[in-house]
Amino acid sequence: MKNIYILIILLSSIFSLNAQYNNLWIPDTLSGTTFDLAIKDTFAQIVSTGNQTITGGINGKFWGPTLFMNKGDVVQMNVTNNLNDTTTLHWHGMHLPAVMDGGPHQIIPPGTVWRPYWKVSNDAATYWYHPHLHEMTEEQMIKGIGGLIIIRDSVESALPLPRKYGIDDIPLVLTDRDFNSANQMPILPYGDSAMVNMTLRPQYTIPSQVVRFRFLNGAVERSFNLGFSDNRTFYVITSDGGLLSAPVPLTRYTIHAGERIEILVDCNGQSGTSVDLKAYNSTLSQTTPGGDILPPNTIFVNALARKDFNLLHLNIGEQTTSPITDIPNALRTVTPIPAGNANITRNLTIADGPNQGASGVLFLLNNKVFDINQLDYTVPLGNTEIWQITNSGNFGHPFHIHDVQFNILSINGSAPDATHAGWKDVVYVPSNTVVKFIAKFEDYADSLHPFMFHCHISLHEDDGMMGQFVVVGNTSGIGNIEKPVPQFSVYPNPATEGVYIKMNEENAEIYYIKIMDELGRTILMLPRPDISKGIDVSNFASGVYHLILTDEINKKTNSKTFIIK
Ligand code: C2O
Ligand code: CU
Ligand code: CU
Repeated sequence: MKNIYILIILLSSIFSLNAQYNNLWIPDTLSGTTFDLAIKDTFAQIVSTGNQTITGGINGKFWGPTLFMNKGDVVQMNVTNNLNDTTTLHWHGMHLPAVMDGGPHQIIPPGTVWRPYWKVSNDAATYWYHPHLHEMTEEQMIKGIGGLIIIRDSVESALPLPRKYGIDDIPLVLTDRDFNSANQMPILPYGDSAMVNMTLRPQYTIPSQVVRFRFLNGAVERSFNLGFSDNRTFYVITSDGGLLSAPVPLTRYTIHAGERIEILVDCNGQSGTSVDLKAYNSTLSQTTPGGDILPPNTIFVNALARKDFNLLHLNIGEQTTSPITDIPNALRTVTPIPAGNANITRNLTIADGPNQGASGVLFLLNNKVFDINQLDYTVPLGNTEIWQITNSGNFGHPFHIHDVQFNILSINGSAPDATHAGWKDVVYVPSNTVVKFIAKFEDYADSLHPFMFHCHISLHEDDGMMGQFVVVGNTSGIGNIEKPVPQFSVYPNPATEGVYIKMNEENAEIYYIKIMDELGRTILMLPRPDISKGIDVSNFASGVYHLILTDEINKKTNSKTFIIK
């Protein structure tokens, strides 16, 4: 009788333990070369009881699809903004023209389609996309707008690595959110609840073999000191922008906002067991995001501050067919840019600024707050630059630059550890530390559209911890001569299915086309369009439209009116 009681107690405790887990959501995938992304306001049942939560999603309800791209392909993005608000969509980590970048300057008004495209030149790794509208990034990211990009290339594909998405190659987007009593998410830098792939208290079953996890720190602010509950060794195989030279064995790794790593975990012969992926954040210092404990009346109060907490409960199941069972010894040759190649060093500073009461300190990048009308640097095309960032403040900041992948040269004078010795686009700059990195700006000159650099804590970024630079190529030698306005015609007019553009000047290239309706609403945004097949207007309502064209060389604008019958 006693045994039965114990059994019942045991069973019911196991049952209630399992019942508290939700199955980890694996984002849908899109692949090929054309990607249709519709950003929208939506809602999702996130908290198991009570109201649905107002969210933002791309094609779905919360977060967006994982985009698979192949290095070398030209990818065409059709981004529709169905939000009731302006937004932008930035391709984080991608090397592409500034006008395609989706930073704060490539604003997509509500109801507009933005069609950027680029040739994928990044190495195989995990990247991501997210909104980047100045002063709105934190809010739109908290809504859940974003997604992963997985790039494949021939080097990575030739290695014996797990790559069955959702089976032995598992994306893990780490965030945290607050849920109020109505199950809604207030705009706060830290939440009380950890989430993985927008799932609260997730569990997942992985096979008993070598499993690959692709981590993105998609949080507003929090860093995660990753580890497993049995302290097992895992192997870091990538940094932000590509494979490392060899897997690096570790038991802990702290990932900061905006960063990605991929790891391999050996689960051979462990079928029937389970292990927890945790954030060992009790070891973080007061100056590290997530280790900071601030007075109760600030917006920083949260249940996870400087605590160890569970991220993902992993059940280890059966082995799959043709499993990967070994951790490779080597990955690829990584050739960092030699420090001696630099032709300029730029000195950047991070400092604590004025105290802003409950919202904390206003952090300053280069002793000022971001001004969208002020250019910070003009980078001559072909420059190899060292950026030296001196953080004299009392808080650490993950620093991110657009356009390029860089190599960290030193952190307070020492070379980076092996996990930070590859290609990066975010570098954590601890308090009272000097970090140096080197990057080459070898293409995509554009005097009109800048690239950004900023702290990837989106609260700090929105508060102005951001700057911008343009990459400029050789000028055309036109000098001060009045630049000609592009002359062109639009036909047929009236149109039904498509409109064509004829430039009066033979070699004129188009930088930008914008189509607006009679009310002045932007309907379509086409950076550097290929107009040889015309512009599809078959889904336009009948009416009068204005086509505004900017030419490539002079960056001058002209407009023409056309009618849709
Ligand atoms: Cu992930 Cu400027 O951004
Ligand atoms: Cu970015
Ligand atoms: Cu910051």
